[in-house]
Amino acid sequence: MRKNIVAGNWKMNLEYEQGVSLFSEIVNMAKDEVIGAQEVVVCSPAIHLSSIAKLSSGVANVHVGAQNIHQAESGAYTGEISASQVKSVGAEYVILGHSERRAFFKETDALLADKTNAALKHQLNPIFCIGETKEERESGSFFDVIKTQLEAGLFHLSATEFAQVVLAYEPVWAIGTGLTASPEQAQEVHAFIRATVAEKYGEAVADDTSILYGGSCNPSNAESLFSQKDIDGGLIGGASLKSRDFLDIVKVFN
Ligand code: G3H
Repeated sequence: MRKNIVAGNWKMNLEYEQGVSLFSEIVNMAKDEVIGAQEVVVCSPAIHLSSIAKLSSGVANVHVGAQNIHQAESGAYTGEISASQVKSVGAEYVILGHSERRAFFKETDALLADKTNAALKHQLNPIFCIGETKEERESGSFFDVIKTQLEAGLFHLSATEFAQVVLAYEPVWAIGTGLTASPEQAQEVHAFIRATVAEKYGEAVADDTSILYGGSCNPSNAESLFSQKDIDGGLIGGASLKSRDFLDIVKVFN
């Protein structure tokens, strides 16, 4: 069954105490309030992961994830973190292929395929990001761009492996810009993504795949986005840094 998921991506924000304190607020609010989304995920910088995973333990539907992993099992990769290390602190998700990693750290589709394999080997669910730049949107090539990102990053997986993956459509032009894709623009791409998955893995797998929208999603626009047929939640950047805003987005599913 396809799940509704709201995931926060704190990016490189919040010192240790600030992150623990924000996560504690989220957990307390999630205990007191009805949260409609079936999964709430917070993807923090690595320094917070162990502590917030402990705080989330036993709290229904609240999970934690990393924002990146290295593709190797272990070894001489100074500064990097492996899938098994992330898993060992209790995290269950990892964001892969975020456009900031693709652009600033030159992560290629082939590298992301390796990182996906590493995540799945250690039972981490990838939140795999795809999406076009402003130029690709304007030139009309965005469907091709998205199809290539799916094929090259994920379509080597078996259907069983693919079932562990959450997809996130994040138009690069909408990230941190205040420019949100309209619900119709987002739905058009989500439907295309689901159809592309169906072509490869069949209708049943495609129907069960959660496809999140990301890009300037906030409490005011979340409802119109999440009410679209193929939008199963959000990957939230800026608005995930405020507990009330984040919970209000989570509660759209109530
Ligand atoms: O991973 C989250 C996205 O990059 C969206 O960020 O909500 O700040 O636009 P944003």
